Amino acid sequence: MAEKLDTGPLIEVLQDASRVAVLTGAGISAESGIPTFRGEEGLWKKYRPEELATPTAFSRDPKLVWEWYDWRRVIFAQKEPNPGHKVIARWEGTFPTVSLITQNIDGLHQKAGSKNIWELHGNIWKVRCTEEGTITENYDTPLKEIPPLCPNCGALLRPHVVWFGESLSPTILQKSIQLSSECDVMFVIGTSAVVQPAASLPFEASEAGAKIVEINPDPTPFSLYADFSIRGKSGEILPLIDEELKKTSKA
Ligand code: OAD
Repeated sequence: MAEKLDTGPLIEVLQDASRVAVLTGAGISAESGIPTFRGEEGLWKKYRPEELATPTAFSRDPKLVWEWYDWRRVIFAQKEPNPGHKVIARWEGTFPTVSLITQNIDGLHQKAGSKNIWELHGNIWKVRCTEEGTITENYDTPLKEIPPLCPNCGALLRPHVVWFGESLSPTILQKSIQLSSECDVMFVIGTSAVVQPAASLPFEASEAGAKIVEINPDPTPFSLYADFSIRGKSGEILPLIDEELKKTSKA
């Protein structure tokens, strides 16, 4: 399917684009071997979010919640960015501005080399003191102690991720809305487009006049509104688009 893609009209749009925004979800990391949340093999089929990814679950049983995050961190640490992550990172040198807004917490965009990243749902490689609020990076796999404690005050550390029932960082959300409303083109990649407020960002972009390019093997509630809805895996489609772009003045 990917080989038959006619990228011509999209390439024309991209040639004129100077501000590109990219919104990614779990699907961009699927080809790196990280399970998505929804769908048949999705993480939420096997685990109940309310037992693991909520503040209530954490106060009830921090050890259980940390064991789940520790398990995921061990898996994530073994994964590498795929060609989709790499093309997005490369594009920071192709377009004048590329702003990457991600719902993912896996850190694979950073590993691929992306710099201008806005992480809506936090990062699994960061921990936050439940007393002091200090955020630090922690790459131990497995963790040295579960649950981990703040080296400064001894309070519980928690994953620096957004749980169900919690608000996103207002600063990151505001910036994401601003970037969405100011871009010329927005790529919407590997997200089921059902979780708010991330799901509203493509609408912000579209209403402000941006062209929207969706890349997903399956249709989503957003597909109807996209200017280009490309059915396929991002690890295959993004390199194809990139190859076509390289043939133009954008290199
Ligand atoms: P989902 O699991 O809801 O959706 C993943 C999307 O990726 C689906 O639409 C798939 O069709 C698509 N997909 C699968 N393989 C793909 C591939 N190779 N290339 C491109 N797309 C592919 O994940 P998200 O939309 O990211 O939030 O979920 C949003 C949020 O829901 C997550 O950040 C998480 C979850 O609850 C929190 O934890 C706060």
